[in-house]
Amino acid sequence: MNQTIETIKNRRSVRQYLPDQIKDQELEDILEAAIYAPTAHNDQPWKFTIIQNRELIDEINQGAKEAMKGVDIEWISKLGAMEGFNIFHGAPTAVIISGKKDAISPMVDCSAAIENMLLAAESMDIGSCWIGFAKFYFLNPESYKKFDIPDDHEVYYGVALGYKVRENSEAPERNRNVFQYFR
Ligand SMILES: Cc1cc2nc3c(=O)[nH]c(=O)nc-3n(C[C@H](O)[C@H](O)[C@H](O)COP(=O)(O)O)c2cc1C
Repeated sequence: MNQTIETIKNRRSVRQYLPDQIKDQELEDILEAAIYAPTAHNDQPWKFTIIQNRELIDEINQGAKEAMKGVDIEWISKLGAMEGFNIFHGAPTAVIISGKKDAISPMVDCSAAIENMLLAAESMDIGSCWIGFAKFYFLNPESYKKFDIPDDHEVYYGVALGYKVRENSEAPERNRNVFQYFR
């Protein structure tokens, strides 16, 4: 199997991390991969806010969980109330991805960048996880000021990055009846 496809198939959402910080060069390579994602109209409508300060990561975790508690969806409110749950799974690096709201398709563009980040991380055996829950912290407008997210941006997602505690687990079963050919 070629190496890119192998990396794609090996990537897993990692939910346990070593406390050691990843190297600056590794982070730079991951961020460089992010900005090489395709974007509609070549808008490149994103900002990546990199947080490697434990207290700040925890502030986002606490704020997100507080907001999650009030959500009408039971599994989300339960996670918000769960004491041991950390939305970044204890990762030493959190990246917040925001997009310029008036671009053509900022959320899709940012999502393409995130997938590049996850694959770049896996190619270096660094653990990663796409963090939808990060958005809950950014429901509070004050959070935009605190993290210098531009007013014309919306925070879509977070990404957790760090060294893996263990080898990747088995991939969740993939549905295979999703292809239809017309030849
Ligand atoms: C938009 C999006 C949001 C996600 N949010 C979270 C999250 O907040 N926390 C988490 O642990 N995983 C999150 N995930 C990861 C998925 O749960 C995971 O990709 C899925 O279960 C398949 O597992 P795999 O990534 O190991 O293949 C998210 C994935 C996507 C695409």
